[in-house]
Amino acid sequence: MRETVCVIGLGYIGLPTSMLLAKHGFKVVGIDVNPQIVNGLENGRIHIEEEGLSGIFAEVRQNESFRVLHEPCPADIFIIAVPTPISENRHSNLDYVISALRSITPVLKKGDLIILESTVPPGTTSDIVAPMLLRAGYDAGCDVFLAHCPERVLPGKIVTELVENNRIIGGYDERSSERAAALYRSFVKGEIITTTATNAEMVKLMENTYRDVNIALANELAKVSAKIGVNALEVIHLANKHPRVHLHSPGPGVGGSRRSCSHRRGGACRPPSSAELPTFRRSSRCFRWTARCCCLAATCRCRFSSRAI
Ligand SMILES: NC(=O)c1ccc[n+]([C@@H]2O[C@H](COP(=O)([O-])OP(=O)(O)OC[C@H]3O[C@@H](n4cnc5c(N)ncnc54)[C@H](O)[C@@H]3O)[C@@H](O)[C@H]2O)c1
Repeated sequence: MRETVCVIGLGYIGLPTSMLLAKHGFKVVGIDVNPQIVNGLENGRIHIEEEGLSGIFAEVRQNESFRVLHEPCPADIFIIAVPTPISENRHSNLDYVISALRSITPVLKKGDLIILESTVPPGTTSDIVAPMLLRAGYDAGCDVFLAHCPERVLPGKIVTELVENNRIIGGYDERSSERAAALYRSFVKGEIITTTATNAEMVKLMENTYRDVNIALANELAKVSAKIGVNALEVIHLANKHPRVHLHSPGPGVGGSRRSCSHRRGGACRPPSSAELPTFRRSSRCFRWTARCCCLAATCRCRFSSRAI
C-alpha cells in the first residue's frame, strides 16, 4: 500500500517536496495555515514560481496523489517545512516549528516518521522536538521515528536541485535515519548520507555560514575595489587561478526565501556595479554576525542563537 506523507508548510520547500513525493509514488497531503495558499492549490493555482513545478502540479492533481488541507490528518510520514526566521533580538524563532509539531501530535500514531526540514539551530531535534513528542506520549526512536533533513536548494532551481543535490539525513537514531533515507531515495539522484540529527543541524549551519562569510568577503572586495579603482571581477578571476582559492562573485548578499524574487530579477546572479553597492546588504555587519554565530555554535548548542537561512 502507498504510504501517506503529510507535509506541513507549503512554501518554497514544502510545495516542491510535496510535488516530487506525489510524483514518485506517495499519497501526499499538503497543509498550510495560510487559507489563500490552500484555497489556491485546491483550485489549481500554484503560488510559487519554480521551473518545472507547475507541470508536476498538474500531473499529481490529475492522478489525485496530492491534495491540500487546512489541518494535519493521519499519515505515515510527517514533513515539517515551516519558516524559522530570526527574531528582533537576533535569536532563532522556533515558534512555527513548535506550532507545526503541536498540530501533528493529535494525529500521530506509533510507527510514524517525523522529519524536520526547516533550518534549525544545532540541538533542536534532540532537545526540543524529541521532548515535545515525549510529552505527547511518543518516545522518539521507540514509538516514532524522527529525523532532521535540511534543505540546500537554490531558489529558481529548486525542483532540479531537490532531485540532484546530495542529501544529509540526520536521524535521531539509526532506524530513524534509515527510514528517512528510504523516503528521499524515492526521488533523490544525489548521494544520500546518514548521520545524527545534531550533526545534520550543524552541517546546515556551517553551509550557511560558509556562504554568508564568502558572500560578505566578495562584497567587501567589490567595495574596496570600487574605492581604489581596480576591477573586482578581474581580481576575483585572477585570485581564483590559485589552486586553493575560490572567491565568490559580488551580489546582493544572503537572505531567506524572499531572495528568490531578486534571483528571478537577476539580482543574485549578476555582479553589482559600484553604484548599486550602497543598496546591498552591509556585508561587514554580516561578517560580525557570522563570527558571533560561529562562536556560539562552537561553545554552546546555540539553539536560539543561530540564524536560519
Ligand atoms: N527557500 C529556500 O531556499 C530554503 C533553502 C534551505 C532551507 N530553507 C528552510 O526551509 C524552511 C521553510 O522555508 P520556505 O522558504 O519554504 O518558507 P516559506 O515561507 O516559503 O513557506 C513556509 C510555509 O509554512 C506555512 N506555515 C507556517 N506555519 C505553519 C504551520 N504551523 N502549519 C502549517 N503551515 C505553516 C506558511 O504559511 C508558509 O506557506 C525554513 O526553515 C528555511 O530556512 C529554505
